[in-house]
Amino acid sequence: MSASKKPVYLDYAAATPTDPRVIKAMVDCLSIEGTFANPHAKDHVYGWEAAEAVETARAQVAELIGVSPLEIIFTSGATESNNLAIFGLAKGLAQKGDRRRHIITASIEHKAVLEACAELEKEGYRVTYLQPLKDGTVDVNLLQEHFDDDVFLVSIAQANSVLGSVTDIHALSSFCIQRGAFFHTDTAQSAGYVTTDFAHSDVSMASLTSEKVCGPKGVGALYIKRSANVPLAACIFGGGQERGLRGGTVATHEVVGMGKAFEILCHEGPSDARRMNELRERLIAGLAPLPGIIFNGSKQHHVPGILSVSFTRIDGRKLLPSLRDVACSTGSACASSDLKPSYILTGIGLDDEVARASLRLSLGRFTTAGEIDRAIADISRAVMQLQK
Ligand SMILES: Cc1ncc(COP(=O)(O)O)c(C=O)c1O
Repeated sequence: MSASKKPVYLDYAAATPTDPRVIKAMVDCLSIEGTFANPHAKDHVYGWEAAEAVETARAQVAELIGVSPLEIIFTSGATESNNLAIFGLAKGLAQKGDRRRHIITASIEHKAVLEACAELEKEGYRVTYLQPLKDGTVDVNLLQEHFDDDVFLVSIAQANSVLGSVTDIHALSSFCIQRGAFFHTDTAQSAGYVTTDFAHSDVSMASLTSEKVCGPKGVGALYIKRSANVPLAACIFGGGQERGLRGGTVATHEVVGMGKAFEILCHEGPSDARRMNELRERLIAGLAPLPGIIFNGSKQHHVPGILSVSFTRIDGRKLLPSLRDVACSTGSACASSDLKPSYILTGIGLDDEVARASLRLSLGRFTTAGEIDRAIADISRAVMQLQK
């Protein structure tokens, strides 16, 4: 299908097209003329050049979030980063004889956090799942209410993957540090678009991914604050790469792609965000006249690229199949084969019927105003037909 015949792509929160500048940087790592070698090969110039490319990428990732490159560990994505943060800390503390066994997270976290916590529950850990506010943010007062001396980790995402709502992680992390617990945040949906100056925050660890910001899939990073002395234990063993925390040859082309994507974001993130916010407003204005429409999530605190909408009085199962000119999702891509309503939407209080009749519309760097207008026309047609 030629690009002009394809539906408008509004699923940037699942994956983004790779920026051509990123593709070029990645391709340069693959050939005999480029930095193709094993970056851990210490015995020749090919290895040294590949290692230099990896360290440049590490510095680019670090710069976006205002930290030192020494605080960045490359992983395969935010899923692995979340797992390393949660399992690695539980294991590291247990090895040190720390007896605390309580984790606090939110019921609307990404599955990569929820499933990792559920695994620890099987091993005897206790997990509290905080109920978010109706706007999809997590309130520090609620955290205080559930906090006790057994808590060693609080993990709350900066931005929710379905609603786009942004939680004040700095209020949450300050509270945790005062009480002697570590604070982890998943910034897969927010890094680069929301202020993430982690050097001046109490965030102990942050998960990052490249696929949401026009970088390649299959690569991410974990920020680990040095001054927080996080006793993280490895979860993947091998050649001792990534400061012994993640064995395996670092995929030079992947991390170089992530580094380039983050470098671009460092310079263009603010202007991208402004443009995306304008397009998001255009989408809201175009859809607002539809009868029974509900805009989910926070009106003030949201990422620029995500809009969650629900509709009353329609059969939600028919909504996505009725769209002819829009490619979007009902919730996170990981759950989209599932007919159950999104746990995130029911988690903020929507009933099952309305939650099923929902769309996550997410836009990004390459979305145009013309595409937004096409999406408005198609969604309006489909909803009005289903409401008849
Ligand atoms: C908030 C959040 N965390 C984690 C992930 C998983 O990221 P990755 O595909 O890089 O493992 C996603 C992807 O949808 C996400 O939105």
